[in-house]
Amino acid sequence: MDNNLIDEIRKSVNIVDVISNYLPLSKKGKNYFGVCPFHDDHSPSMSVSEEKQIYTCFSCGASGNVFKFIQDYENVSFLEAVKKCADQSGISFSYGKEKRNNKNQDLLDIYEFASKLYQNNLHSSLGKEAREYLKSRSLDEDVIKEFQIGLALNEATMLADTLKKKYDDATLLKSGLISEGEYNIYDTYRNRIMFPLYDLSGNIVGYNGRIYNNNNINDSKYINSRETAIFKKGELLFNYHRAKEECRNYKFVIIVEGQIDAIRCYQAGYKNVVASLGTAITKEHAMLLRKLSNNIILCFDGDKAGEKATNSAIEELSKLGIEPKVVRLEDNLDPDEYILKYGASRFSEKINNPFNMMEYKEILLKRNIDLNNTKDLAEYTNLMIKEISKIEDEVLKEISINKLASETKLDIKFIKSKLEKPKEIKIEKINNKIKYSKYEKSEQGLIYYMLKSEKVIKIYEKKITHMPTDRYRKLAFKIDCFYKEKGYIDLADFLTYIHDDEESSGAVSEILRLDLKEDFDEEAILDYLNNIKRYNDKNLSNQYKKELKEEVSLEKKIELAKKALAYKIRSENNE
Ligand code: CTP
Ligand code: MN
Repeated sequence: MDNNLIDEIRKSVNIVDVISNYLPLSKKGKNYFGVCPFHDDHSPSMSVSEEKQIYTCFSCGASGNVFKFIQDYENVSFLEAVKKCADQSGISFSYGKEKRNNKNQDLLDIYEFASKLYQNNLHSSLGKEAREYLKSRSLDEDVIKEFQIGLALNEATMLADTLKKKYDDATLLKSGLISEGEYNIYDTYRNRIMFPLYDLSGNIVGYNGRIYNNNNINDSKYINSRETAIFKKGELLFNYHRAKEECRNYKFVIIVEGQIDAIRCYQAGYKNVVASLGTAITKEHAMLLRKLSNNIILCFDGDKAGEKATNSAIEELSKLGIEPKVVRLEDNLDPDEYILKYGASRFSEKINNPFNMMEYKEILLKRNIDLNNTKDLAEYTNLMIKEISKIEDEVLKEISINKLASETKLDIKFIKSKLEKPKEIKIEKINNKIKYSKYEKSEQGLIYYMLKSEKVIKIYEKKITHMPTDRYRKLAFKIDCFYKEKGYIDLADFLTYIHDDEESSGAVSEILRLDLKEDFDEEAILDYLNNIKRYNDKNLSNQYKKELKEEVSLEKKIELAKKALAYKIRSENNE
């Protein structure tokens, strides 16, 4: 890999422009600020420095250069992130097939293999009934292919027998596709149509198996993969990896409950759709949706359960400061049934005219009250005022106030006076809660300024023999290596240099979020050095003392005592 080319690619893009493509940034002083996409709140705790070409979240600690941002936002590898930047700048950059060192590669391979087997089954003669079932549900040949739908045959050990040749039982059991019986291992899924579930990068990591004939009519309709090292249902959304690109074009994302609903939307032309697979929207789901688009349309089943799911999704999203839009389908239908019954164009009409949050809340509030009844009207007004208080969009807020005023015949001024004040946004620096000792702070300070100045690196080279904290010692060593190799120091390039070293990258993040002073004076640096030395001396002294206790030879005891004392004095002289 040509490292100079990678540095050149990094310098060819501006991190502020790149991040702006993903989330809104606003300039405050020298830096830009935005809502951090890597943790769950909605205060602008991420700062982006144009000068340093890095981002730092003061709340969750995420930090890095432009490559790291793309990697984490898009769930792509380092080289893919480099490639994306190169493409933006028109620099030609290619790389060979990457060997991703995923620690769960075995499990991914097992799923890859199972997927081929299941798809083959579906197209074999034994798959006729399943194929007919899919046809009866109007799922076309091309979506069956696109979504890699397969079939687990009505056999107990078909998958297990094949996989056994390559993997040991323990590994197979970890995949969840194989279960443990009293005498042998067997296939978890039997006689079911298999819908693969993908992780954010598009690897198959789980299955949702559906019954399709009368053989197992008494079993539950769907069986989900159990949670494994690679599959956490609450952390993935069905069709996410495909929708990722589509949402950019459509400028919104639709979320539905079931995978068949999602596939139906996809067939109807809405490829910007994801499904929660029947579970309540989690914090992780909400963060994923936020990444897809800030224009989110909830389109859950038309029944009571769907309404409940809608309301709880609204709650989860509002914690991120997002107001989704809502589509409600009549006759208790789910999107799949709705599109089949009324056609794609009537569905499109719904999607093009979703309720905004106020309209939806209003519908819910009005449902059980009589606005001609004074008490009901008062209750309704109070609840609406509460809802309007939460609106962040100023135009929408003003419109909603006016609407409520004319509806209730109350004075606009009066309603405004009753609105709750918006809460002040406070950025919580979690890091402030971690207490570092004096010598740790000195190590951090030293490293921080090493990352800014050659001069400090040279002082480190000359004066420091040992950094007491493991991760800081390694990091300082790497900074020094970088400097010796390249002849300069640059934080953003250094981050590229250590991109595959999690410990060092983590240590840099830890230090960056301390938000130390930009400028340093030599006195401060010398102070750091002294603190570190003193700590080392104290440590050595204690070590000799310990050895002294265990030593039997008198002569050696004296020797050790002398050493312990010498280091103790040295450490105290430096106070
Ligand atoms: N689901 C699941 N496990 C279950 C039940 C439901 O994973 N035991 C998920 C499936 O993704 C399903 C979705 O929740 O598509 C919605 O469930 P439900 O409304 O019961 O699905 P139906 O629309 O009745 O199922 P289908 O359209 O497949 O007939
Ligand atoms: Mn359905």
